[in-house]
Amino acid sequence: MRAGVVGIGSALPEHVVTNKEFEAYLDTTDAWIQRRTGIRERRILNGAVTLTDLAVEACVAALNDAGREAADVDHIIVATFTPDRLMPGLAPRIAKLLGTENAGAIDVNAACAGFLYGLDQAAALIESGRVKLALVVGAEALSRVTDKHDRGTAILFADGAAAVVLASGEIEHGCAPFVLASDGEHGDLLYAGRDERLLRMEGQEVYRHAVERMVEATAEALRRAGMTVDDVDLLVVHQANQRIIESAARRLGVPEEKVFLNVDTIANTSSASIPLALHHAELAGRLAPGDTVALAAFGGGFVWGAGIIKWKERVHASA
Ligand SMILES: CC(C)(COP(=O)(O)OP(=O)(O)OC[C@H]1O[C@@H](n2cnc3c(N)ncnc32)[C@H](O)[C@@H]1OP(=O)(O)O)[C@@H](O)C(=O)NCCC(=O)NCCS
Repeated sequence: MRAGVVGIGSALPEHVVTNKEFEAYLDTTDAWIQRRTGIRERRILNGAVTLTDLAVEACVAALNDAGREAADVDHIIVATFTPDRLMPGLAPRIAKLLGTENAGAIDVNAACAGFLYGLDQAAALIESGRVKLALVVGAEALSRVTDKHDRGTAILFADGAAAVVLASGEIEHGCAPFVLASDGEHGDLLYAGRDERLLRMEGQEVYRHAVERMVEATAEALRRAGMTVDDVDLLVVHQANQRIIESAARRLGVPEEKVFLNVDTIANTSSASIPLALHHAELAGRLAPGDTVALAAFGGGFVWGAGIIKWKERVHASA
């Protein structure tokens, strides 16, 4: 039994913040931000819309895309470290609003690698036969934990949500074994403290580790999947910084035309970043059923990972 992605959906806040807006109160420029990060604008939650609302919108779209009913969902995993409440997590409320019946519902926090960790857990539950249909969601409101007066981070982070539907079936590939890893030695290079509740980051150090770890993990994930870089149709790397993504792609030997970027309009949405990129890639015609996708993420902890998935392989549902 394998686990295959059969649907995807996403939701972004309406409010757009351009680089120009930072020029008014930070020692920065639109040109600097674009040159050093590739970011032009980002979406930020404001007003009455909650992160739960965004996540539910993404899940409804993903279920519609998959042609499945909420009542069929057995398990929901939400990757986030910025939930609406400290407790309970987002997942039980999302389950309630979707109308799932008796679905397991849990939040996971693996910082910017959260979606990959969640996808791996959901795939494992499906492969073991414990779950048949799962929603894996990445949802973040990083604006809640961003120091607006720190020019090294204020420009980077944003909000958004996206979800995939993962189904069990007799398929050839599905989600190949993921590579997941951590190194708590570097927990002080990127963190949000319990009292301050703001992201603090040593940008250059994080940058260096991110590139190295994601390249290693992706190469290992390809090896475990029995593939080479030539088999990859699209590389979807956590959208933190265009230079990080391009540098990782160069080292892996993935040509530019096989690298997806939406960091320019989305910025860094942490665990929502990979599913948002997957959805935007599909909408842009860059991802078609049967394509081989290499995913890689890196985040505070440090935690990181990579995985090879086949995009929307035809799933013959198991009995
Ligand atoms: C944060 C980041 C964009 C900074 O870019 P960089 O090219 O590494 O820049 P540096 O940190 O070397 O800083 C260079 C200079 O630019 C300054 N700078 C930082 N942010 C700036 C901004 N928004 N505008 C203008 N100057 C800025 C620094 O203060 C520094 O000035 P100094 O030389 O006078 O000390 C980059 O390090 C980065 O993207 N890091 C990883 C971020 C990330 O991926 N985080 C999440 C991982 S999940």
